[in-house]
Amino acid sequence: MSNPPFDLETIKAGLAGQNPRDILKAALAHFDNIAVSFSGAEDVVLVDMAAKLKPGINVFCLDTGRLHPETYRFIEKVRGRYDIKLEVLMPPHQDLESLVKAKGLFSFYDDGHTECCGIRKVAPLRRRLSTLDAWITGQRRDQNPTRLALDEMELDSSFSAPGKPLYKFNPLANWTSAQVWDYIEVFDVPYNELHGKGYVSIGCEPCTRPVLPNQHERAGRWWWEDATKKECGLHAGNLGS
Ligand code: ADX
Ligand code: SF4
Repeated sequence: MSNPPFDLETIKAGLAGQNPRDILKAALAHFDNIAVSFSGAEDVVLVDMAAKLKPGINVFCLDTGRLHPETYRFIEKVRGRYDIKLEVLMPPHQDLESLVKAKGLFSFYDDGHTECCGIRKVAPLRRRLSTLDAWITGQRRDQNPTRLALDEMELDSSFSAPGKPLYKFNPLANWTSAQVWDYIEVFDVPYNELHGKGYVSIGCEPCTRPVLPNQHERAGRWWWEDATKKECGLHAGNLGS
């Protein structure tokens, strides 16, 4: 395996516009110590592709404690369906207890999602990423105003540490939602039952709602906040781009 050093810009340029499977193949060829981050939504297509390319691949879900029951059931369905090593990561309980003690269980409606996401999502993510050389996400350019400039591969500006670069692959970057759903249908990939109830983009239960037919999918996430700031810290680098 050809782990770094390599020329990031050359690889990035080579991956631009490639299909997701080829991007995944390249990611897996360059990095052994790599994992797929799976949210429990339509990014299941990545799990399907990755498990076929590398049986036993590491996959992790961030269990915020606030996911829908449907999402928990779906995560377990995916665990049963694929040959993957699936980890479900939990937030740090002391920080969480302090937040809830100080502000209750719904503070994000009053002062924004950053603090709660910081504890429930970003802290466990940081802990897991500190053990990896690269990770794979299901972000797409068509998802969000903050993702328009998303590359298929990037140096993760948020989670790299001095002397320990972390690379991030976004194999679905250049796919549309329609292409993702075509794949799910053609390859009979299991999907979260919430998608049949009007939900498109799926996150935590209190911060996600269904959207109307012509509404943008991110309208259903943190709907009380400004669309240009809708990143929870997992992909905070997008806000700088
Ligand atoms: S979010 O940052 O706004 O919540 P989004 O729901 O669009 O992200 O998902 C984009 C990608 O981020 C997913 O495909 C997945 O790779 C990663 N991700 C988001 N939420 C989670 C989660 N709870 N667990 C693991 N990965 C996640
Ligand atoms: Fe908390 Fe909402 Fe963020 Fe989930 S999406 S971690 S409930 S603020």
